[in-house]
Amino acid sequence: MMIAIDGPAGSGKGTITKILAEKFGLINIDTGAMYRSIALAVLNNHIAPDDKEKIIEIAQSIKIELKEDGTILLNGEDVSKKIREKEVSQIVSPISSIVEVRKIMVKKQQEIAKGKNVIMEGRDITTVVLPDADYKFYLDADIEERAKRRYMQNQENGIEMSLEEIKENIQKRDYNDMHKQVGALKRTKEQIYIDTTNLTIDEVADKMIKMIKE
Ligand code: DC
Repeated sequence: MMIAIDGPAGSGKGTITKILAEKFGLINIDTGAMYRSIALAVLNNHIAPDDKEKIIEIAQSIKIELKEDGTILLNGEDVSKKIREKEVSQIVSPISSIVEVRKIMVKKQQEIAKGKNVIMEGRDITTVVLPDADYKFYLDADIEERAKRRYMQNQENGIEMSLEEIKENIQKRDYNDMHKQVGALKRTKEQIYIDTTNLTIDEVADKMIKMIKE
């Protein structure tokens, strides 16, 4: 079974994916974490965020591992928390717009999924990475709600960003992610659209579990 989930930042994709992965015994693939790992490597290597050639080299050479427990390893180092920091969030969207970077990542994502039961979330999963997935969802919520959710998550993870800063970052990323030359976040007729603004995580999960069982 393959489940693909797309949606903007803070729409609940990550949390829902974890719940459904456990429920149906699927491998959970957070593709945003892969782009975030490249962004972190760019920062660690003091590469300018607009130096495309060097960024492509980084994308080709780094080793990203997504562990079953959700841990993200970058060249063997646990970066699960670092990739959520403000500095990474500020540069990840433009980095993920580089067409070559996307080619490398999409190939990796398709290789990870090949022949396995997976649930994968991101921006271009339903459209580019797994267009033949059994279930394709688009999760959404209004900007105020999404900023609030990300604020709470950051608080839990000890990441200092004000609600205003988060809202501004999400808005910028959404615009950029929806207007990419390749792999833009899009709504399509094949996706099941769920507005999660007024739903709890459990309500969203229940709704999706029912649809999958049916
Ligand atoms: O899901 P996230 O917020 O952790 O993703 C971080 C960035 O990575 C997001 O702004 C866009 C990019 N991304 C992408 O371009 N394609 C994906 N499949 C997943 C994420």
